Amino acid sequence: MPGLKPTTREMSDTRDRLIVALDVGTPDEALALVERIGNAASFYKIGYRLAYAGGLSLVPRLASAGLKVFVDLKLHDIGNTVEDGVRALSDLGAAFLTVHAYPQTMRAAVRGRGSSGSRLLAVTVLTSYDKSDLAEAGYALDVPDLVALRARQAAETGIDGIVCAAFEAEAVRREIGTGRAIVTPGIRPSGSAAGDQKRVMTPAQAKAAGIDHIVVGRPITGAEDPRAVVQAILADLV
Ligand code: C5P
Repeated sequence: MPGLKPTTREMSDTRDRLIVALDVGTPDEALALVERIGNAASFYKIGYRLAYAGGLSLVPRLASAGLKVFVDLKLHDIGNTVEDGVRALSDLGAAFLTVHAYPQTMRAAVRGRGSSGSRLLAVTVLTSYDKSDLAEAGYALDVPDLVALRARQAAETGIDGIVCAAFEAEAVRREIGTGRAIVTPGIRPSGSAAGDQKRVMTPAQAKAAGIDHIVVGRPITGAEDPRAVVQAILADLV
């Protein structure tokens, strides 16, 4: 891809803290955005929308350009299916991939990851859920207790990190210790619109909360100059 150069290890370390969500409709749009951002960013996330529009083909393509790719498909199925799915995504070159934090699913994902370079992230409780949503789904626990239980189970299972709301990071860190990553969306550079994100943190607040990687989408994808927004966010993270 023109404009995409392999990154040096030294440069990638700070840039890896920002994951740009490629929430666009087609692989061509995603590639155009990656090219506009150029070497300012090193880590991109592919979610349902882009993946189901052919975007998984970008995983090896971006990886071979020295970029990291987070495949955010939140897998959850019978163990054999999860194991095979994780293995297939690892083979594509995903740096991070997500599963729901059910113990059986996490154990299967760890088997599927094997000794590949992919890192598994577990989603504890979706941040759109509150106590009444959990009760409706048959759970007796409230959100903080279920987040803590699942984070603990994730660490016991050998999962590499947790996706959670920024405001849950402290409690999650207590459960998983320092060797595993915390990845959070819901981050807004100061002054940008919150959109439908309710409890937002700035990049600097996220860093202070001990969050390892932040995920930012619309403030970058909707910007006149996405590269400049990426650079401003990274300046906040140093
Ligand atoms: O555009 P925005 O910065 O809100 O995008 C955040 C990304 O993180 C999106 O890809 C979204 O699906 C994801 N996400 C989120 N909130 C959660 C979990 C994931 O916004 N609680």
